[in-house]
Amino acid sequence: MSNPAKKLENLKVDLDNAKSFFFKNIEKMESTIHIYTHIDADGLAAGAILGKALYRANIPFQITILRQLEREEILKIANMESNNFIIFSDFGSGQYLELQEKLIENGHLAPFLILDHHLPQNIANKEDFDSIKDIHQKTTPWQINPYFYDIDGSTEISGAGICYYFAKCLNEKNLDLSPVAIVGAIGDIQNQGPNKSFMGLNSLIVDDAKRNGYIEIIDDLNFTSLKPLNEAIAYSSEIILPGLTNNVNKTLKFLQTLGILMENSEGNVRTLQDLNKDEKQKVSSAIIEYASLKLDIEPSEIIKKLIVNRYLIKNEINYSDLYDTREFSFILNACGRTNNAALGIAIAMGDRKNSYEQAQENQLNYKKSLMKGLSWIKEKDKIQQMDFIQYFFGEDIIPENIIGTVSSMLIRSKLINIMKPIFGVALREDDEVYKISGRAHEQIVDKGVNLSEAIREALTLSNLDSLGGGHPPAAGTIVPVNKIDLFLENCNEVIKKQLKT
Ligand code: C5P
Ligand code: C5P
Ligand code: ZN
Repeated sequence: MSNPAKKLENLKVDLDNAKSFFFKNIEKMESTIHIYTHIDADGLAAGAILGKALYRANIPFQITILRQLEREEILKIANMESNNFIIFSDFGSGQYLELQEKLIENGHLAPFLILDHHLPQNIANKEDFDSIKDIHQKTTPWQINPYFYDIDGSTEISGAGICYYFAKCLNEKNLDLSPVAIVGAIGDIQNQGPNKSFMGLNSLIVDDAKRNGYIEIIDDLNFTSLKPLNEAIAYSSEIILPGLTNNVNKTLKFLQTLGILMENSEGNVRTLQDLNKDEKQKVSSAIIEYASLKLDIEPSEIIKKLIVNRYLIKNEINYSDLYDTREFSFILNACGRTNNAALGIAIAMGDRKNSYEQAQENQLNYKKSLMKGLSWIKEKDKIQQMDFIQYFFGEDIIPENIIGTVSSMLIRSKLINIMKPIFGVALREDDEVYKISGRAHEQIVDKGVNLSEAIREALTLSNLDSLGGGHPPAAGTIVPVNKIDLFLENCNEVIKKQLKT
């Protein structure tokens, strides 16, 4: 069954049950709802959607943001929460057994709801149909997860998307939160269809937003705005242009010959975002012509990779940082990763004054620390190789809060071999553990690599009891300092097996 509308119908039945469960429980309780959500862009978008929906329903709530729902955090919640209804968003499924044990079976008072899109605990992959069905039956009505409806949580719906459907089930008016759900999905890099379109349930959310005039979809060039345009073109991993690729000086000359002023008033090379429509059109035509001559391929083939969809929020000020959902998700990530998650929640809930101004400042520091990390890795040759994986230690340059983002950027850059997964390893301050962030390119995910499964299997093989997992292309965990070599060797073995079977 591949029809997303049909799958949505099945999801809606359970959302209705979850809604009844929610209201039945909160009726008896006088305390506020406690939302726990994940620290990344999708998690903040998810928390903001829930916050806004509860606010509109006059239901008091508070939001706590966690870097991950680790075992230690679950124990803290179990000891602390006695009277609040809890909602876990953008995490909770990967830890559902743990939550069940600590919060239900121990006679704890607080009922809870999980609104998540990660592979449930102990589920290796989406084809584990029988076990998934079993979890679905056993955890209804308190867990909502896309895999129960044969929906891929890694590419078809984000945590914010699941929360959006819950919010819409509470009140149809929450349809206006659809752009925030798109921001969450972009943050989780789920726009992986042709020309970076959305697939599955995400495309239905886009339809909601488009139909009601909240967003507009335009075509744009597939280069990052985070780097000067010549670098963005030269280092693109998707668009290969013989003679220009890897050569920033030649690429700058190429752009200058188009008659486009490439420097801004401060003397820096402009980014894609700084170019107007006509200038972008010139760059686009020139690249199509260049590529069809040099590579002898049809312009239509080039366009497939060169032109991408951008999802713009019509209510935002044009060309502000929140106009493009991609930039919006970047700001949320920057808030989360610089210990300012509350700002991110406020912005996603609609604050365009204080929080937004502060967040813009943070974003600059965040960008700097990412760039510093990436150039350090490149210049100091920090990537270490095993036969089937590669890894790096963040040392004192790349801390835990950005190790995941740096790993994501590496796998999307031309700095490393994308045919092996990468594991970023950062020492957690004041703790004897390393935070691990694994990332794999779609090209090897398509060949069988599943990092969620790999991390869980490597933990078992290493006799470690940390919780871990995520999605096939992106997963994480924590590992005691003295077990890191063993853990990485086991990751190498598991990936070897995944590629062979
Ligand atoms: O917990 P959550 O699902 O929201 O996080 C997914 C994380 O994995 C995000 O930080 C996202 O950027 C990253 N990711 C990635 N490459 C993918 C899919 C997700 O780097 N293909
Ligand atoms: O932390 P990081 O960004 O590397 O996480 C990548 C993905 O793995 C995210 O979707 C995150 O929620 C998930 N993850 C998890 N359990 C962990 C650590 C990460 O499900 N213990
Ligand atoms: Zn997510």
